[in-house]
Amino acid sequence: MKTLSDIDFKGKRVLLRTDINSDVLNGKVLMSERIKEASITIKELLKKKAKVVVLAHQGTPQKEDFLDLSQHSKLLNKFVKVKFVKDVVGEIAIDEINKIKPGEAILLDNVRFVVDEFHPENPENVLIKVLVPCFDYYINDAFSVSHREQTSIISFPKYLKSCAGRTLEKEVKALEKVSIKSCLYILGGAKPNDNIKLLRGKKVLACGLFGQLCVIAKGKNLGYQNEYLKKESVLSEDILEKLKGKLNNVETPVDFAVNKDGKRIEYTIDEFPIDYRIDDIGEKTIKKYTELIKRAPAIYMKGPAGFTDDKKFSIGTEALLKAVANCKGFTLIGGGHLSDTIERLKINKKKYSHISLSGGALLSYVAGEKLPGLEALGIKRG
Ligand code: 3PG
Repeated sequence: MKTLSDIDFKGKRVLLRTDINSDVLNGKVLMSERIKEASITIKELLKKKAKVVVLAHQGTPQKEDFLDLSQHSKLLNKFVKVKFVKDVVGEIAIDEINKIKPGEAILLDNVRFVVDEFHPENPENVLIKVLVPCFDYYINDAFSVSHREQTSIISFPKYLKSCAGRTLEKEVKALEKVSIKSCLYILGGAKPNDNIKLLRGKKVLACGLFGQLCVIAKGKNLGYQNEYLKKESVLSEDILEKLKGKLNNVETPVDFAVNKDGKRIEYTIDEFPIDYRIDDIGEKTIKKYTELIKRAPAIYMKGPAGFTDDKKFSIGTEALLKAVANCKGFTLIGGGHLSDTIERLKINKKKYSHISLSGGALLSYVAGEKLPGLEALGIKRG
């Protein structure tokens, strides 16, 4: 993998694709680890006296989180000096790109405002036509978008000398270690289809809504929770069908904590069906999973075991996270909920080998799928 260490950037014009896509609450962009991380590569390039143009996206067209990058620019400026330019391929952008001096950086507006971002195959693609002549190098520092076949991810390496940024480099190096056969997967959270992709003979500890679905797929009626999962569109015949026949190596919860008028009460599986909502795994499951975690040579944990927003029901997630933190082997944590819980619990982040900032891209990688963005850079899977 070619990295920032392999190129002399002094005075060179660099197009840097980064990922600062962040959560949005009532129109306000929240500070994120991604913004903080993105500043690392920018800082290094500025120190090396490159002329840096940052390209990034926020949200999805037609959704509420589809915003310009003015707020991101303010947040990014807490870590590194970057000027925001409210344009991507127009005259204003070109003019600003041409004015940059060595050691300066600008952030262009949301690249998804340009429809050609979604049409890399278009022979008249305006992003390629306008931006390619302005640069000497292209850097992809957006591992978390590298599962997308989009112009800013896959097209520029065809025309410009390219390399990986520090965030992408760090993710790829960490993920190579998860490929090992004996890695134990702890799969929780509310996205069953994502987890099903990963059920390929690996040893799995199921928890969260996913764990409940696995229990139901094994033929158990959980009572109220069956109805709740249907209402939330998590439980369907289609999902149960997909799960059947894939559960041989999947450990499922042996007890659950339910929410009984705001109180945490635990019941073993045999005591179900029960008329209360399940909000966490129970102590017996925690004990059983903790033992298995202790012996694992490598671990990938994705998604919470229960409702982490409520302290009473974050017990399962906390216990598993702490057990993983004490594991001697390689440990990878994926997904926003878990990194937030680690932050809240003040568990030392260094206790994990790697905490990924990627969602869909990480999942595709772990599921063994090709990532177009990595392929475009010529990065081969280890
Ligand atoms: C993410 O948030 O996972 C990345 O920024 C990719 O965003 P997308 O799912 O909108 O392509």
